[in-house]
Amino acid sequence: MTRRFLFVLGSARPDGNSELLARRAAEQLPPDVEQQWIDLTAHPLPEFEDLRHDSDHVRPTEGATALLLDATLAATDLVIVSPLYWYSVSAQTKRYLDHWSGWLRTPGVDFKATMEGRTLWGVTALAHEEPEVADPLVGTLTNSAAYLGMRFGGVLLGNGSKPGDVLKDTQALARAKTFFAQDAPRARFPYEAG
Ligand SMILES: Cc1cc2nc3c(=O)[nH]c(=O)nc-3n(C[C@H](O)[C@H](O)[C@H](O)COP(=O)(O)O)c2cc1C
Repeated sequence: MTRRFLFVLGSARPDGNSELLARRAAEQLPPDVEQQWIDLTAHPLPEFEDLRHDSDHVRPTEGATALLLDATLAATDLVIVSPLYWYSVSAQTKRYLDHWSGWLRTPGVDFKATMEGRTLWGVTALAHEEPEVADPLVGTLTNSAAYLGMRFGGVLLGNGSKPGDVLKDTQALARAKTFFAQDAPRARFPYEAG
């Protein structure tokens, strides 16, 4: 199966550090790998309504929800490109993840079976110098991948505050060169052995 990367951009500003870092990493992908980039600010998802236990969700056929659902189902590799906001993913990104809960219950979608075995990656910019403050974001993505039986390639972190700052983080740029080439093992919850 040809690999197809979906980059889901979750910053609240265009051309931010997270996107710049993700584009550096994406430059290294072989030309036969398809890339799709969707900016959640340009394609805002509606507020998530929790209908899981009331009625079945209906598969969306138009708008941002249909665009993101179809793109997500088509991706072999899903890249969450989110700045670190309050030590976790941005609200735009979190809403996208919340919609997964609806898609898990949407008849005819088979979201869990489709996502199983596919790979989740993260790319994040943060202002803090110490990368461990991003552990909550890393945990959110790891556990979400484990819940869906996905592989997890890790999170590429870069430092910066104002747009463009990340291009001065030479260590992050070096990590970007090989980020998507690294092994992506099956995601495990922290309580699982191995
Ligand atoms: C709402 C908000 C919350 C933020 N929270 C954090 C934080 O918890 N830790 C941190 O290191 N930086 C934080 N920052 C700084 C951003 O992570 C930083 O500016 C980053 O470069 C933004 O990425 P972007 O350019 O892709 O939007 C925050 C910025 C905003 C606007």
